[in-house]
Amino acid sequence: MRSTGTDLKVKANGIEICYDDLGTGTLPVIFIHGFPFNKSSWQPQLQGLQQQFRVIAYDVRGFGQSQAGDEKLTVTLMANDLIKLMESLEIEKSVICGLSMGGYIALNAVTRFPDRFAAVILADTQCINDTPEAAKKRYDTAESIQKDGSQKFAEGFMSKLFAADTTSSNKSLLETVNSMITATSVPTLVAALDALAQRTETCTELKNVTTPSLIICGEEDVITPPAQSESMHNNLSASEMVIIPNAGHLSNLEQPALFNEILQNYLNSLTTS
Ligand code: MLT
Repeated sequence: MRSTGTDLKVKANGIEICYDDLGTGTLPVIFIHGFPFNKSSWQPQLQGLQQQFRVIAYDVRGFGQSQAGDEKLTVTLMANDLIKLMESLEIEKSVICGLSMGGYIALNAVTRFPDRFAAVILADTQCINDTPEAAKKRYDTAESIQKDGSQKFAEGFMSKLFAADTTSSNKSLLETVNSMITATSVPTLVAALDALAQRTETCTELKNVTTPSLIICGEEDVITPPAQSESMHNNLSASEMVIIPNAGHLSNLEQPALFNEILQNYLNSLTTS
C-alpha cells in the first residue's frame, strides 16, 4: 500500500531514505536536489504540482534525513539509490527532475536505465565532469570545511548561487538556502565534494539517449551556465530547452511560478502525447 505525506521513510539500497510523496497520477515525477541541499528545496514544485501529478522528492544519501550508509559516496551510487527507491515504492517508470547534482544523478541513471524513465528534466546542470583544476578546488574546499565548518563555506557558496535580483530582493530565500547548507553535516559535504570531483562525464552518452528531455536553466547561472544547457540540448535527440530570466543556479526557487508553469506544460504534453 502506498503511503502519502511528508518525511516518510523507506529502506532502499541498504539505507533509510526520507521522502515526500504527494498527489496522484499514473506517471510519478521524482525530484532530486542539488549539492548541498535537501528535498525541501523542491517545496514550491511539490506544492504547485501536487493537485495534478504524483510528486516525490527525496533526500539524497547523507543529506537531509536520509542515512549516509557506509559505502563511498559516488554519483553512480546515488543513481543506484534512485533506482532502488523506485523499486521500494513499486514505481516501474517515472519522470525524473534533477537540479545540478540532481541532474548529474539523473543523467547517470537515464544513461544506464533508460527503460525506467518516461522523461528527464535537467535543471541548471551539465554533462561535463570536473577539470583537474575544478576537482582540486573541491578538495581545497573540503579541507577548509573540515577546518572552519560549514558556515564560512555557505557564505562563499551563496555568493555564486543567485541572480542579482534574487540577492537584492529575496532575503528570505537567501536565509532558507543558508540554513539548508549549514544543516548538511560536514562528513556529507566532504564526501559529496569528493563524489562530484570524481564523477564521470555523460556528454558522450547523450547521442544515445532517446528519452524525452526538458532542459531548464537560469539565465544568470554561473555555476552551470546556459552554455552547458545548450550543449546538452544540441546533443540530445528529443530535448526542449527553456532559459529562465532573473534566475541563477537555483532557478526553481528563484522563479518558482515560472518554473512550475514550464514543468506543468511539459508534463501535460507528455501525458497527452
Ligand atoms: C549543485 O548545485 O549541485 C552543485 O553546485 C553542482 C556542482 O558543484 O557541480
